Amino acid sequence: MARETWATRLGFILAAVGSAVGLGNIWRFPWQTAENGGSAFLIVYLAIVLLVGVPGLLAEFVIGRRSNKSPVGALRDLSGSKTWGAVGVFSVVTGITLLSFYSVVGGWILRYLLESGVSLVGANPAYFANPGQYFGGVSAGADAALYHLLFLGLTALVVFAGVRKGIELGTKLMMPAVVVLLGGLAVWAATQPNAAAGYSFFLRFDPSVLSENFFAILGPAAGQALFTLSLGAGTMITYASYLDEDRSLPFDGSAIAVLNTFVGVLTGFVVFPLLFSQGINPAETGTGPGALFVGLAGAFSQLPAGTLIATAFFAVVTLAALSSSISMLEIPVAFLVDEYDIERRNAVVGMGALVAITGTVCAFNPAIFGFVAGPLVNAFLTAGLAAFLLFVGWVMGRDALDEFTSGVGSFGESLATPWLFAVGVVLPLFLVFTLLSQFGVDAA
Ligand code: PFF
Ligand code: NA
Repeated sequence: MARETWATRLGFILAAVGSAVGLGNIWRFPWQTAENGGSAFLIVYLAIVLLVGVPGLLAEFVIGRRSNKSPVGALRDLSGSKTWGAVGVFSVVTGITLLSFYSVVGGWILRYLLESGVSLVGANPAYFANPGQYFGGVSAGADAALYHLLFLGLTALVVFAGVRKGIELGTKLMMPAVVVLLGGLAVWAATQPNAAAGYSFFLRFDPSVLSENFFAILGPAAGQALFTLSLGAGTMITYASYLDEDRSLPFDGSAIAVLNTFVGVLTGFVVFPLLFSQGINPAETGTGPGALFVGLAGAFSQLPAGTLIATAFFAVVTLAALSSSISMLEIPVAFLVDEYDIERRNAVVGMGALVAITGTVCAFNPAIFGFVAGPLVNAFLTAGLAAFLLFVGWVMGRDALDEFTSGVGSFGESLATPWLFAVGVVLPLFLVFTLLSQFGVDAA
């Protein structure tokens, strides 16, 4: 059977944006920014997105489009070496690992969405009464496992339907909905009392971050940039492998990075005015789950029409999470389809069953969940991206330049050689440096 391709170029871009825009933008990004020096952090983060993220994204695109294979076949065929193929297997493991924790968080969100939605026609959502206690009760255990399975089921359904009829169609509907709903919420949030205090908490410029804590925020900023752009897992290789024409990759890569950052900033413009309007001090509710499920849920419970706002908000988060989780599942599924000629549907069922189990472990055990969601995923993505970059720089070489320049104008062509140098030498060193610094090794 012929390998599937995207129906349209826009379909590819939206699918990639869908993968990038996710819990990383909505759950993590605004908090990382607010806690690490506001707009000072934002500047460092933007620089990393531009100098590391976009070139990294292009490296994955180049591997995928050149080979028309998912990571295992791509690295093996382009190098002619089985060893590189084995490196690709690492992507399959990373995809499964990512989805195992992500689907649990997706489940929490789905629960909040369903509960808010049902409450539109009934009593207040249960979490309104005491957000902190409520979240504590449902975040781990049988309930969490059940909703994880539900979220995973939705993810599997989309991937099951195929590249065009599932992923492309799904993200084409989901991404505009996310932007429109989020934009509406941001406008509405601006009308709330005390919104200005929220903006300044989010974006106040703390210059000491740049002068004193620069190396301390480099690690978080780099980790956030990788995670948010879905780099290092092979998702972007896989998505680009379904491209069959030669338009400019640098254009697509830049558009994806811009849209992804836009959604993160827009989320900050919803979250912080809302919290401050209700007199909730974000510094107290903290980052991570607490931010979304305790702080914001508390704000919703106090607002007039809070149930409606909550429903819209959790709908945004659910769609964003779903368009990312499908890109995680697609990695191992494409691997089975490409390498073993397994039918897509069977591959989805098989991999879905596996993640049903690994995710359930995460749902029941907060210590395992924390380890997977934090250090393990960080290390996998960093190591994975370093491998892809070295592959492009040292194995593909000229082929990579060809792929990079096809369809770009003369300005794009002048960027090709610096890009290859960055990808082969500078960026891998940077990744090793940030990886070590994240694990507390003093690499400076
Ligand atoms: N970019 C997604 C987010 O910001 O939530 C997470 C992600 C998706 C990471 C896919 C890695 C990946 F392969
Ligand atoms: Na993202």
